[in-house]
Amino acid sequence: MLLDLFESAAEVESQPAALGPGAVILRGAAAPTAAVLLAAVEHMIDQSPLRFMTTPGGYRMSVAMTNCGAAGWITDRSGYRYDAIDPLTGRPWPAMPSAFTDLACSAAATAGFSDFRPDACLINRYEPGARLSLHQDRNERDFNAPIVSVSLGLPAVFLFGGTQRSARPRRVPLLHGDVVVWGGPARLNFHGVVPLKEGHHPLLGRSRVNLTFRKAL
Ligand code: SIN
Ligand code: FE2
Repeated sequence: MLLDLFESAAEVESQPAALGPGAVILRGAAAPTAAVLLAAVEHMIDQSPLRFMTTPGGYRMSVAMTNCGAAGWITDRSGYRYDAIDPLTGRPWPAMPSAFTDLACSAAATAGFSDFRPDACLINRYEPGARLSLHQDRNERDFNAPIVSVSLGLPAVFLFGGTQRSARPRRVPLLHGDVVVWGGPARLNFHGVVPLKEGHHPLLGRSRVNLTFRKAL
């Protein structure tokens, strides 16, 4: 009886927590592989450095970005898009490491999207004060595939709204190792990140790194 109780409590803990229809949070799912993921990021930014991109409206983003995979998300004065070539280096983006693909596929499968295969990973680096205003991810060709978002380093408050910009977003604390998956009816939900607070993380110091996996092509 007691054992039953404990077993079901453990089960409840390992269940993905729903953020709404089509959206789940897998607490700590990336924690066991964080060091491997971050070593891969280090190697990647030697090849395609983090940079502050410009929005079509001419604003410099406060989040530093780079990509890996067959396609990378970019923004400049001419718009938002995916490109196979890093405009900073003139070369293809670094390949997506298997530790990235494995994590993204297994998180998506846990969330109910078993055939997800990412071809793009946007790497976002936040330092205190950096923020991402509410937006939809809609430069991908196929909205049937979900978005898988991995948080590492300093905690952040994730804003997760609805399909209309006017819906008041939920404020979801995201900690090191948390993975959020949204797809299906939530695929085009507005989301963003409030300005990062000062802090120190044992692996990342004064920063937060977010990996966002997409099927772009
Ligand atoms: C994004 O929307 O691309 C990033 C979200 C996050 O940093 O948690
Ligand atoms: Fe996004």
